[in-house]
Amino acid sequence: MHLIPVLCILCLCFAGAACTGQQPQEAAPAPVATTSPSPDGGADPGAAPSPAWGADGVISNGEYASRLAVSPGYTVHWRNDADLLTMGLEAQTEGWVAVGFEPTTRMNGADIVQGWVEDGEATVQDQFSLGPTGPHPPDTDLGGTDDLLERAGSEQNGTTVIEFSRRLDTGDAPYDTVLAPGQTVSIIWALSSSDDPTPMHDAGWGSAEITLVAA
Ligand code: HEM
Repeated sequence: MHLIPVLCILCLCFAGAACTGQQPQEAAPAPVATTSPSPDGGADPGAAPSPAWGADGVISNGEYASRLAVSPGYTVHWRNDADLLTMGLEAQTEGWVAVGFEPTTRMNGADIVQGWVEDGEATVQDQFSLGPTGPHPPDTDLGGTDDLLERAGSEQNGTTVIEFSRRLDTGDAPYDTVLAPGQTVSIIWALSSSDDPTPMHDAGWGSAEITLVAA
């Protein structure tokens, strides 16, 4: 019996299997735009999302798992786990940017986040649209709660970035949509050239779909 050569061959086999084994990767969903086909929809560039997400008004490589260009001048970035959704809204405007979840008709019933940066200070609001063309006051004005856990924004060279996080299920029904891992979520979006949150969007609006990862 040539025991030593046999043991050597076995060791080499185990080492080879360990090296070629697939590393677990976070699934990168392919988001679908319903009204604005996205040339670069899909996974954000870079590696798996950084575990150190923080709302700082800067969208860095690998910070988000997915992105969707809902229009040529507006990209929505997002990542989620079983509990939290984090989003980065990046738009070519010096006014407000907004995203809304699961409207019924037009803007009606949408769970909206609207944000803007004025004199270097970001305001990001958890809102709810009361009708097909608004208004969309903060949830707190309607008897609900502000459920944005972290928020930040920046404005540089004509681009505004708004970042926020929230729980998938905030418990603030009916003002916040209950989201679930793996869900395809219909969204509406809008942009303004102004920081005044009240007048209608004058820099674009539309709808799309994003898919959350199955955590
Ligand atoms: C800031 C105050 C806002 C006002 C006064 C306003 C007003 C309106 C009006 C009047 C329309 C109908 C436009 C038309 O038929 O030509 C409309 C449509 C729309 N708005 Fe707003 N809006 C506001 C904010 C927002 C926000 C924050 C969002 C997104 C989160 C949004 C998303 C949309 C979308 C997607 C449509 C088209 C809906 C459709 O036709 O299916 N709006 N809005």
